[in-house]
Amino acid sequence: MTAEAHGGEWDARAGSVARLQGAARTGRGIYLGLGARGWAWSGAQRSTLVLGPSRSGKTSSLVVPNVLSAPGAVLATSTKPDVLRATAGARASMGWCLAFDPTGELELPPGVHRVGWSPVGAAREWHAALEVADAMVRTARGRPTGAVGAGAEGHWSERAAALLAPVLHAAALDGVPMRGVLRWVDRHDGAPALDALAAHLGDDAVATDLLAGILSTEPREQSGIWSTASGVLAAYRSPGALASTEAPLLDPDAFCAGAHTLYVCAPAARQQLLAPLVVAMLAEVRDAAYRRASRTGGFDGAPVLFALDEVANIAPLPDLPSLVTEGPGQGLLTLACLQDLSQARARWGTEADAFVSIFGTTVVLGGIADIRTLEALSALSGDREVRSRSVGFTDGAGGRQVSATDATVLRRRLPVDVVARGRLGWALCVDARNRLGWVRLTPAHDAWPWRDCIPTGRARTQDLLGPPGLSGSARPGVGRAPGRTRSAGGGTDPRGWLSCS
Ligand SMILES: Nc1ncnc2c1ncn2[C@@H]1O[C@H](COP(=O)(O)OP(=O)(O)OP(=O)(O)O)[C@@H](O)[C@H]1O
Ligand SMILES: [Mg+2]
Repeated sequence: MTAEAHGGEWDARAGSVARLQGAARTGRGIYLGLGARGWAWSGAQRSTLVLGPSRSGKTSSLVVPNVLSAPGAVLATSTKPDVLRATAGARASMGWCLAFDPTGELELPPGVHRVGWSPVGAAREWHAALEVADAMVRTARGRPTGAVGAGAEGHWSERAAALLAPVLHAAALDGVPMRGVLRWVDRHDGAPALDALAAHLGDDAVATDLLAGILSTEPREQSGIWSTASGVLAAYRSPGALASTEAPLLDPDAFCAGAHTLYVCAPAARQQLLAPLVVAMLAEVRDAAYRRASRTGGFDGAPVLFALDEVANIAPLPDLPSLVTEGPGQGLLTLACLQDLSQARARWGTEADAFVSIFGTTVVLGGIADIRTLEALSALSGDREVRSRSVGFTDGAGGRQVSATDATVLRRRLPVDVVARGRLGWALCVDARNRLGWVRLTPAHDAWPWRDCIPTGRARTQDLLGPPGLSGSARPGVGRAPGRTRSAGGGTDPRGWLSCS
């Protein structure tokens, strides 16, 4: 963690979201709040983990400010529309604002365009088909880390992924939409996919062989494989989810190329069904971010940001640990929010115990109750020597004797109860060298400069977004360069209203 004053002394009059974007562009990483010397950042190329219970300020103090101040593309996940509502007005002045809503129920503000994503589109290349099938199966079967699992569970998961990969690839090659894939899988009908693979790739291609092998297994076994695959695609039985696979489809490469924003909203109640879709989509955007970094020679000052609010619920990426360690060097920063490490353990198993060291920076908000999380953080604070004196009395023939003994004892610098309580309005931060410090939180609805840049009510929303008629009826033309959208303040400079000074 570095606390840096922008241009020397912290000057309350000089700051603005635009300047924060400039500061972020210079590679200071994730914005944390106010440190002793001004804006505090995670540090260059460091992802950040946020731990805090409900209502502790994860969204308002960390996610919203980082979405607003990110100089590059942002993919923001949430189980609520709070991030979308707070930031869409500002982000629309920088690039396209898109929403992937697999329920089809979200009411979008003007200027935010619905965008689709389909596993079929992601499976155009064979290696990508393998990846998307694997990510969906592992997420759906609750085994996000490591191998697909052992025993019967592992067998069915492995077989289902082996079936879905060639089926999705066949659909991609033959132009069959997700609706068609669902029909094949639910009817246990592999013939059309096998024909498509043979026609496009030949009889001796790996994908053709894999599917042919599955279709020649004995009927009971084969039925189990189809049923497992059907369960993985269960979300697509809702019309909303199926509609979310239709055009206009997200172009991950075009999305990563500019300061665009993609909001992924899926309610917590349906996360079990929807998480496989979201995870597979995130994996495709991640690959696009890495491709962009390799094209531009790595760090270009505007990394793609994954702002993963409610990460364990809606975006339990199987390879979150490698995303966090490899991503920053390849132009992708992650801000991941969890209630505590027990929530991570339920998703990522024992790998969760290493989260505080895997993430370059951890932000801890007050109110955590999970004792293992608290113990781990308290242990990082180290011990300090405390002198203690004990006084004893002995009654003897000569009367009462007083004796004093001095000793030095070791006490935690931050005892468990101090970490648990936290400090109201502050966050405890752990940096990559396990140093701890306090940073003042800057809730977007309350603290400058954010409060001037987010809608605070109905009227304010209209101020920021402009009259509904201006929102533009054209679909986003995903993949096109973003048009310069109107200035929310009505001026000609699309970023003008971001300058809050
Ligand atoms: N726009 C707003 N106006 C006023 N208060 C707000 C606003 N947004 C959030 N708050 C308040 O800020 C506090 C933190 O809310 P926030 O949503 O950031 O917490 P959270 O940690 O993200 O919670 P959860 O895990 O439930 O999403 C709450 O007390 C909330 O009522
Ligand atoms: Mg929240």
